[in-house]
Amino acid sequence: MSETKHRAPHRTIIEPFKIKVVEPLSRRTLEQREAILKRAGYNLFLVQSDDVTFDFLTDSGTTAMSAEQWGAMMVADESYAGSRSFQRFEKVVREVTGYPFVIPTHQGRAAERLLFSLLVKPGMKIPSNNHFDTTRANIEHMGGEAVDLVIDEGRDPESRHPFKGNVDLARLDAFCAENRGRIPFGMLTITNNTGGGQPVSLANIESASKIYRRHGIPFMLDACRFAENAYFIKLREEGFAAARVRDIARGFFDLADGCLMSAKKDGLVNIGGFIALKSDEWLSNLRNQLILTEGFPTYGGLAARDLEALAVGLKEVLDEDYLEYRIAVSKYMADGLNRAGIQTMQPPGGHAVYIDAKAFLPHIPPGRFPGQALVCELYRLEGVRSCEIGSAMFGAFVDGAFRPAAMELVRLAFPRRVYTQSHFDYILEGMSALVARKTAIRGLRLTYDPPFLRHFTAQFEPV
Ligand code: F0G
Repeated sequence: MSETKHRAPHRTIIEPFKIKVVEPLSRRTLEQREAILKRAGYNLFLVQSDDVTFDFLTDSGTTAMSAEQWGAMMVADESYAGSRSFQRFEKVVREVTGYPFVIPTHQGRAAERLLFSLLVKPGMKIPSNNHFDTTRANIEHMGGEAVDLVIDEGRDPESRHPFKGNVDLARLDAFCAENRGRIPFGMLTITNNTGGGQPVSLANIESASKIYRRHGIPFMLDACRFAENAYFIKLREEGFAAARVRDIARGFFDLADGCLMSAKKDGLVNIGGFIALKSDEWLSNLRNQLILTEGFPTYGGLAARDLEALAVGLKEVLDEDYLEYRIAVSKYMADGLNRAGIQTMQPPGGHAVYIDAKAFLPHIPPGRFPGQALVCELYRLEGVRSCEIGSAMFGAFVDGAFRPAAMELVRLAFPRRVYTQSHFDYILEGMSALVARKTAIRGLRLTYDPPFLRHFTAQFEPV
């Protein structure tokens, strides 16, 4: 459907759905939230979801499914082998990606572990724009090195480059030449989550594909937000305004040798993932490993009803009214925050907005965790749960001295089809009021520092 057909003379982009099933929104008083924060050691990972009003911790697995998805789940065939639901799922993955060989997994990191345990050996290097945390961890677990080669603009929160997820082609080419024989495959993450949910242009994917091909290196897409990336190409890349998003997506899948997918994002499901491949070279090894650790190749650790929901979700996500609304959500929030005087990483990403807490709270030094302080204040003020990506997550003690992270960001990641515009207006009202008294926000000190993955279990107290 063309967007102008629906919209003229309206400027408002509406939620392209009506609501059949509702869930009450948990609401707590300010005093209750203050007590909850204190009990949780000022760590939102330790707060119960019942105490959260707006949960923006992640866009992963938090989608509201459609009536059609729920309907498909009821007719699922829960057979151990050769399930009809698997065939339906496989057919849709083949249609969307063009890849004939499809391996279901229970989520993205299971796909990563399967592929990497087959291909990554100690001393090997895997280039990408940016690797997501679990991707990096799974590569490192096999003794490999995950190497980030995103363009310089992708590291600059102010830059308004339309494709900040692009890989630096000159560096990629040089890297492939220098590390001949040590690169089992190359990757690109679309959209680039670690870099702020920024898209990669089709031209960049095409050039990366040529480089990988010239060096004889297989090329895998981390495709968990492929539909959002394809829609950004339609909006921002010259020559694609009239193209269908599904064709744009097929265009980039054609340029790679396969993909890894966490379907908890653009699969529009609560659990699920897959590997899809152009060639069957790795197939039997992957399937054997799948049987060992995940399940038979026609369910891969999922219930057949999950495969049914995913088969429907992968089609729904390519609906352009849905994608127009989806991309409008983060833009709406970013514009609202910027108008109020809260700086965000530019331009807003597809699935999330990243507040620059260093710029917003200059009176709190990095060692006092300005990002985490803002996360706590957003919860205290209006029950918003967000995630710090800064010194609480990445800061390190080196020879007794604290070495802060490069950036102090707070990510608001938006679940798909869950919150409405009035929710966002309400949140923005509270945050705008916060600006005038932001100097009252105090930093935090660590009271418990776990030995690894600090952000999940650390405890803090206000300074
Ligand atoms: N790749 C990317 C780019 C991701 O964003 C994620 C998950 C994964 C792989 C792993 O997938 O969770 O299904 O095992 N990202 C979530 C997030 C957790 O909040 O950004 P998974």
